[in-house]
Amino acid sequence: MINETEKYLCDVIKSLGYDIEKVNLVPSSRRELGDFQINESFNLGKINHENPRDIAEKIVSKLDNRFTNVNIAGPGFINVSFNHDVLCDYLNKGINDFNIFVDKKDSKTIIVDYGGANAAKALHVGHMRSANIGEALKRLAKLLGNNVIGDVHLGDLGRQAGMLISEYKRMEPNSVFFDKDYKGEYPKINLTAKDLGIMYPKASLDAKCDEKRIEEVREITAEIDKGNKAYIELWKQMVDISKEVIKKVYDKLNCHFELFEGELDAFKYIKETLEIMKPYLYESDGALVCDVEKNDDNKPMPPLLVIKSDGATIYATRDLATIYSRVKRFNPNEIWYVVDERQGLYFEQIFRASYKVGLVKDDTSLKHFGFGTINGADGKPYKTRDGGVMELDTLINLIHDEVEKNIKEEIVGEERNRIANTLSIATLKYADLLPYRKTDYVFDPKKFASLDGKTGPYVLYTLVRIKSLLKKSLDTDFSLINIENKEVLDILVKTLEVNNILNKSYEEATLNYITEYIYDLLSLYNKFYNNNNILNEKDDDIRKTYLAVSKLVYNIVHNLLDVLAIDEVDRM
Ligand code: ARG
Repeated sequence: MINETEKYLCDVIKSLGYDIEKVNLVPSSRRELGDFQINESFNLGKINHENPRDIAEKIVSKLDNRFTNVNIAGPGFINVSFNHDVLCDYLNKGINDFNIFVDKKDSKTIIVDYGGANAAKALHVGHMRSANIGEALKRLAKLLGNNVIGDVHLGDLGRQAGMLISEYKRMEPNSVFFDKDYKGEYPKINLTAKDLGIMYPKASLDAKCDEKRIEEVREITAEIDKGNKAYIELWKQMVDISKEVIKKVYDKLNCHFELFEGELDAFKYIKETLEIMKPYLYESDGALVCDVEKNDDNKPMPPLLVIKSDGATIYATRDLATIYSRVKRFNPNEIWYVVDERQGLYFEQIFRASYKVGLVKDDTSLKHFGFGTINGADGKPYKTRDGGVMELDTLINLIHDEVEKNIKEEIVGEERNRIANTLSIATLKYADLLPYRKTDYVFDPKKFASLDGKTGPYVLYTLVRIKSLLKKSLDTDFSLINIENKEVLDILVKTLEVNNILNKSYEEATLNYITEYIYDLLSLYNKFYNNNNILNEKDDDIRKTYLAVSKLVYNIVHNLLDVLAIDEVDRM
């Protein structure tokens, strides 16, 4: 509606003989004068050497009756409110159809690289941020019309492979995987995810004080890189086991990937990738590197290391090969990387190298959407007591203990469990998506789980209230009819912002506009809810209007939560 009205206003101003491209209808800074304001007169006055107030008068004289309460304030601010019938007609559609708030903007093919867990290792806090932000950005891009493909890009090559295989060798020294002369099919290994979870820390501990073991791990890792069939087969099986566990964790976070690929999958494209890069690679201390510096750089931009001096591939080699494979298979317009801001320089190097050697065309955009760290109370990245990275499970448990306290005592057993779980994830996700993407934030379970303020529980609790209100109501059909109540009108005007909020979030690739908006809208709703006795309202038109407002707010927030991949509860 705002968009349409802005177009209309543009036409009106043009019809007065002025040149103008876009008119902004903005929420009024002085609501007593009107719901929205139009500030275009000033710019037009400047350009055309005319008094803005005169221009405002001319515009106002042309406006049709979609507006009421049209007035000019001060030197030329135009204030308008929407005619109530127009507003009701429009928003009545929104009660059941969220699409009226969405304009499909783009139809690009976008690959979103997010998640990034490492095989055979526990997910840590950084992986959670990537998962939450990436999934939401993906859903947002989809909602706005794009064809979006999410890829988890697992870290499934590297030292952990060497560690696990060396450990397996100690457990099963006679396995055919370690028989160099073995030519047959390799058997299925008999390990569970739990076994892997025990094996990795054990190997890693043993290797710490054993030089020989470290050498062995290094050797196995290098062998995999060189294409050792037995080790690759063994490692792939381990990765598959680990994938099942990782998928379950992502399921818990409501993250669902179209592609569940990783560095291992990029492996087969390395040869072709290097072939393309060859003319741009040169030797430096035995390694192969690619210059990515530009003349106007104002920070150091070291060459990108592509192949190590011992001939081994690294993280970067696999990222380059992944780009090659993505372009070849999906021909994307954009690839987004939702990865810790601290990998910013690395991605800058990767992107520059990709454009330079022609792995991607100039009009393909590669974007790194970095995010800030989750900090402890000391303001430093959140660590375990012994200085290790904080695992996701620990975070979930901390939140779980807090949200439990918000659930009514009468809810027990299996249901209580289910609600606590949903609420924990919602709490964690809402807190994670609340700050601007690049901002670091302090992990504070008490604050996040509070029923007051900008929190998941506040949001879900308000929705529970609305759902129960609608269930209790005897009216089955209702719509916006009489919107004289100021609190109702405030809510309705606020709902007109949804479209803008979605676009802003998409353009800046950050979800904070959506989380903040949900809070603002629900705060208005709660004020209205507390001051009006909705179900007992005697006037039919007013009661039906109140119910319709409730349903409208519910529908909007429900759909916005769906973008954020946050599930609701039915009671708590
Ligand atoms: N596995 C990496 C890590 O744990 C993140 C992967 C990010 N994606 C990428 N294409 N490099 O840091």
